[in-house]
Amino acid sequence: MFIIDGMKSRAHREVVANPTAHGWVLNLYLNGERYPERVCDYFQSEYAPTQELAENIVRHASDEQRHVRLYSHALSTIGEPVVDLAPPFVFNEVVRSFTPDTFHILPTDGEDAQREKLANFLAHAHFLEKRVGRSIEYHADACGALGRDHAGKCVAAVMRDEERHVEYTREAVLDLLPRRKAQEVLDTHRRAEAKANLEFSLRLLRNFLNRYDNGISTQRKLMFRVCEFIMQGASRLV
Ligand SMILES: [Fe+2]
Ligand SMILES: [Fe+2]
Repeated sequence: MFIIDGMKSRAHREVVANPTAHGWVLNLYLNGERYPERVCDYFQSEYAPTQELAENIVRHASDEQRHVRLYSHALSTIGEPVVDLAPPFVFNEVVRSFTPDTFHILPTDGEDAQREKLANFLAHAHFLEKRVGRSIEYHADACGALGRDHAGKCVAAVMRDEERHVEYTREAVLDLLPRRKAQEVLDTHRRAEAKANLEFSLRLLRNFLNRYDNGISTQRKLMFRVCEFIMQGASRLV
């Protein structure tokens, strides 16, 4: 995994060095942050059984709206536009494609069903945000290394919130459900995210190589191809 970590770190630096590619990646993050505004089953705080959880969910929703503004600002600092991306390039959509059932809670659902759907949403958010958190860590590091300080500050601000989201969402799943059921729900969403991550990473890598072919040295291109090969192999193991 150290080899892949090194490749990811280099890939982010490659991206940040190219303003168009950097804009594309910031738009990938931004479109993920916008996803909750497009669906009806995220952040259903009204069904939280405790005031504390309801407040955490409301704050979480408002953080994600702030992240959209932060990424928009980061894009403006590098002179790139905000772009609406198609669903295959929105990570949430890809994770949902591997996720069974809806999180949408209906007023007619019984109390147990409401808790289970809310717990499923929180487990989904936990694993998705954990992955995005790692990715933006590489990205913030690359922004710092290449002197994109304004964009780097925006990404670092998002990163701090995501760490909090990752923590409370897992705790909430364990509070909402009996231990064994909570573990099942967490396992389901861990697997869905892992499958989605491999598919999404490969899709991004291919898209990046096709779009920005001319600006990448042959040696680096070869390195990314090796990375693609490794990820393809790993995707058969999940
Ligand atoms: Fe976010
Ligand atoms: Fe978040």
